[in-house]
Amino acid sequence: FEIQWDASAADKGGWPSFMAKEISEEPDAVANTLRGRIDADGQVVIPELNGLDELFVDINRIVVIACGTAAYAGQTAKYALEKWAGIPVDVELSHEFRYREPVITPQTLVVSISQSGETMDTLMAVKYASEKGAKTLSICNTQGATIPRESDAVVYTHAGPEVAVASTKAFVAQITALYLFALHLARVRGAQPADVLAEQSAELLAVPAKIATILDESDVVEQLAHWMSDSRAVLFLGRHVGFPIALEGALKLKELAYIHAEGFAAGELKHGPIALIEPGQPVFVVVPSPRGSAMLHSKVVSNIQEIRARGARIIAIAEEGDAAVLPFADTVIRIPLAAPLFEPLLAVIPLQIFAMELAIAKGLDVDQPRNLAKSVTVE
Ligand code: AGP
Repeated sequence: FEIQWDASAADKGGWPSFMAKEISEEPDAVANTLRGRIDADGQVVIPELNGLDELFVDINRIVVIACGTAAYAGQTAKYALEKWAGIPVDVELSHEFRYREPVITPQTLVVSISQSGETMDTLMAVKYASEKGAKTLSICNTQGATIPRESDAVVYTHAGPEVAVASTKAFVAQITALYLFALHLARVRGAQPADVLAEQSAELLAVPAKIATILDESDVVEQLAHWMSDSRAVLFLGRHVGFPIALEGALKLKELAYIHAEGFAAGELKHGPIALIEPGQPVFVVVPSPRGSAMLHSKVVSNIQEIRARGARIIAIAEEGDAAVLPFADTVIRIPLAAPLFEPLLAVIPLQIFAMELAIAKGLDVDQPRNLAKSVTVE
């Protein structure tokens, strides 16, 4: 009698899918990306950038280029990069950037984000930027990949191999690496006092445990997914750093459950999308922390009231203790308290789990969704 070891199960570490395994690894993906990059004084020192300070001292503009989920990581990090480093940041889709004849000078830093480091759209845009005289930095999860090799510098994420086509742990690792870079840049350029930088480092170091808490309490999300398995269209609303998370939540649902999904900036609702609201329309709302901006929080709660009045079914993702959403939300998914700029790293987790669970409820392959490739190596 011989136990037949299921090779695929061996690869998945006993998890039912690579996607489930990789979501479970998100605390480590963040922790491993942070490891060795924050010193005893809470200052970010990225070894790969040692000796390269001259790359960053005289830049006056950052352009982030990426595709898909990686682009949403860039859109999320834009807020921290501008706040901490004090440099204007544009985030562009790689395949658009290269063909619009962008203004590039030697003071432009082009930051590419790519899990695989082989995405042709992004590689060609990096080469274009270099030819035009920009400095280039790669944020990549694959050691020695083509895009880092074509760049002046690289900050690797340490999420470990990501096999599932839909990106999860690499996404949170990308935001982590971008936040580290923003703090490194702020230190090198003297843009912030050391104690302010140390506060942000402490927030970063607290993220892995907070993600682990969310993973331990995901049964509400799983039940929700099964309830919504026959949904035909799902909307996602977010504001400020929650806006790119709404976009990412919609992308996950498209990729995994093949459901039409769209993310909107909550403030945009009245400028058109509210026409989509009809009785029973499911809407996820990423609610900003009331501790960050009471103004933004109250505006998003008003948005919730507006769509609720038109029959929407509201699933609010809100921090522990935020009672303002309770009267208007059908479901509230709680995330641990964090400084506002760090909430995206937490709010995205329930949206990833939701998309995966809904795909499972529909009997779909969560690791290899139809029509998709893990790395798009053609333009
Ligand atoms: C992520 O869920 C998607 N599979 C896709 O959008 C991906 O993020 C995009 O193709 C970029 O890939 P890269 O990070 O390897 O460059």
